[in-house]
Amino acid sequence: NANGAKAGKTRNLIEKMDESGKNCIIFYGSQTGTAEDYASRLAKEGKSRFGLETMVADLEDYDYENLDSVPSDKVVMFVLATYGEGEPTDNAVDFYEFITGDTPTFTEDSDPPLANLNFVAFGLGNNTYEHYNSMVRNVTKALEKLGAHRIGEAGEGDDGAGTMEEDFLAWKDPMWKALQEKMGLEEREAVYEPVFGIVERDGLTKDSPEVYLGEPNKMHLDGSPKGPFNAHNPYIAPINKSYELFSVKDRNCLHMEVDVSGSNLSYQTGDHIAVWPTNPGEEVDRFLDVLSLTGKRNTVISVKALEPTAKVPFPTPTTYDAVVRYHMEICSPVSRQFLATLAAFAPDEETKAEMTKLGGDKDYFHQKVNVHHLNIARVLQTVGKGKKWTNVPFSALIEGVTKLQPRYYSISSSSLEHPKVISITAVVESQHLPGREDPFKGVATNYLLALKEKQNGDPSPTPFGLSYEITGPRNRYDGIHVPVHVRHSNFKLPSDPTKPVILVGPGTGVAPFRGFVRERVKQAQNGETVGKTILFFGCRKRSEDFLYEKEWEEAKQVLGDNFELVVAFSREGAKKVYVQHLLKQRAEEINDLLLKKAYFYVCGDAANMAREVNTVLGQILAEKRGISDSKAEEIVKNMRAANQYQEDVWS
Ligand code: FAD
Ligand code: 2AM
Repeated sequence: NANGAKAGKTRNLIEKMDESGKNCIIFYGSQTGTAEDYASRLAKEGKSRFGLETMVADLEDYDYENLDSVPSDKVVMFVLATYGEGEPTDNAVDFYEFITGDTPTFTEDSDPPLANLNFVAFGLGNNTYEHYNSMVRNVTKALEKLGAHRIGEAGEGDDGAGTMEEDFLAWKDPMWKALQEKMGLEEREAVYEPVFGIVERDGLTKDSPEVYLGEPNKMHLDGSPKGPFNAHNPYIAPINKSYELFSVKDRNCLHMEVDVSGSNLSYQTGDHIAVWPTNPGEEVDRFLDVLSLTGKRNTVISVKALEPTAKVPFPTPTTYDAVVRYHMEICSPVSRQFLATLAAFAPDEETKAEMTKLGGDKDYFHQKVNVHHLNIARVLQTVGKGKKWTNVPFSALIEGVTKLQPRYYSISSSSLEHPKVISITAVVESQHLPGREDPFKGVATNYLLALKEKQNGDPSPTPFGLSYEITGPRNRYDGIHVPVHVRHSNFKLPSDPTKPVILVGPGTGVAPFRGFVRERVKQAQNGETVGKTILFFGCRKRSEDFLYEKEWEEAKQVLGDNFELVVAFSREGAKKVYVQHLLKQRAEEINDLLLKKAYFYVCGDAANMAREVNTVLGQILAEKRGISDSKAEEIVKNMRAANQYQEDVWS
């Protein structure tokens, strides 16, 4: 395991717990950082409320065959996200295979092997996906089968319903109670103990060569980044091209091509590319301002973990500005629990009381914070009525604000055609959210928009009024580069190109299908026989957001009748027309193709579209094959299990 085996670090969890005096280890399986964040919060709470000696651990950093040797006076917690089609997150793959394997082998020979193990489990899932929270469910089942004792319920958070945070809060109180009983823990008055020590470095300035200004690691700081490029080490890719795909003023959709020929990065058609964003200047300023850090923004700081098992989530020495701009998710909604933590550092008693109320009262929080889509700095401004929050330890912010996450995009190019140029098709997030005065602007997509403008010589700030630090750290890369890495996915064309394919992708859901179609064009040009390709695309109006209209015509020239584009325009007529309506109109043909073992693909919106398409497909099969709905649903399920039905969806 390339990431796990860090030099000089033990992979033996018993040894690690013993040498650091821990009695509670909290493992996370995390893809986008939320599970990791929850694990850290459990660790803090366990320590401050119950005096547990907690440590947070990345599942990929340890081996598991001695889970049977964890003594019964200790506890192991699992915070596990389910990714995509019921898959483990990248860092949990090895653990998942081990624990759910037929016969996991442990060091001792006891029976059942995990009779001494006490565990706690919480899962993060999304009920719009077929395999809801399957990670936590399957791991819990496997652990119990091996004789382990679950403490409290195995919790399940639902991102699909938008209740993840509240599900987590509602789960953890009874869990702590059960754990208190099991381990005989006394609750104490929670006292804040910083996890990180911050030292301001008088001798250094932001221009000193050893100071990190957003570079993810030492190689980048030294100006000589080397592969492998991955989730820990992005490649700073030059942007070849970037242009708009919509022809309306108020909505933007970008087609962007990055060149990875200077790296060993490779991809296959259907993979994902991760973009590492930068926060907008306005929100960085707001954050620094309300915390009274503006005057010190370029002060150099060294950050050290005050306990051996904590990890500083960014390299140091660095500056306050760089931490906030490149490493903290400062624009996202704030958690209720974090407000409760910050109450202790309020500028006055009235503010403290208000923060405590917000932290403790779910409905009040909803009405005052959620409805207005406030990020942390906006909450502090509003609740503090403009006062500066001078007492908040910077450690509390590092602990409480999530790490800025890369955003994933379905690659819209074909690796057969362009093995070293990766394209992205991204719609720029700018939403008028009810209850909020200014529109909400997505972090990564507005950053990409700013890069586009920079590349095309347009002056910053962008038309949306956001400004980004796009010269990049220390000018090592200019505004026409973007940090990326590739994530391999299972969303793939059939290996046999003669197989027919049905592609359903409205909006930016068409991204991977541009790659698929271009791949088939290339195959045809190479003299291969290519099967039927039907693409169901959906957009509002032909004149506004018909993505890649010209390119489909070009594909048609090569593939002829073997390529068909079916477009649902939702806002041209009096009635909404969606891709699933057109699928239904083509029921006969869809059924025939599926009988010929066509592959069926869906990409785009997970919340509604993908589910509705799934339902419609079942209806088509039921009607055309004269079978019951439940039988048809079973066929669709089996198609999924056999990879004949593949989804690449996001919410
Ligand atoms: P963010 O800043 O991450 O915000 C995203 C959303 O979160 C907002 O629209 C809003 O609803 C909510 N939000 C954030 N902060 C707040 C707040 N303070 N209050 C209330 N709500 C808030 N997108 C594409 O355009 N094309 C693709 O091909 C594509 N492929 C994807 C493939 C995968 C596997 C996945 C997981 C996602 C894909 N996405 C794709 C989505 C993409 O990853 C991003 O989520 C999207 O571009 C938005 O990113 P952002 O940083 O601009 O927005
Ligand atoms: P609408 O915005 O006019 O409702 C790309 O976003 C296209 O997908 C748009 O035409 C959009 O239509 C459409 N769309 C919205 N909801 C959908 C759903 N549940 N199923 C299929 N398409 C949908």
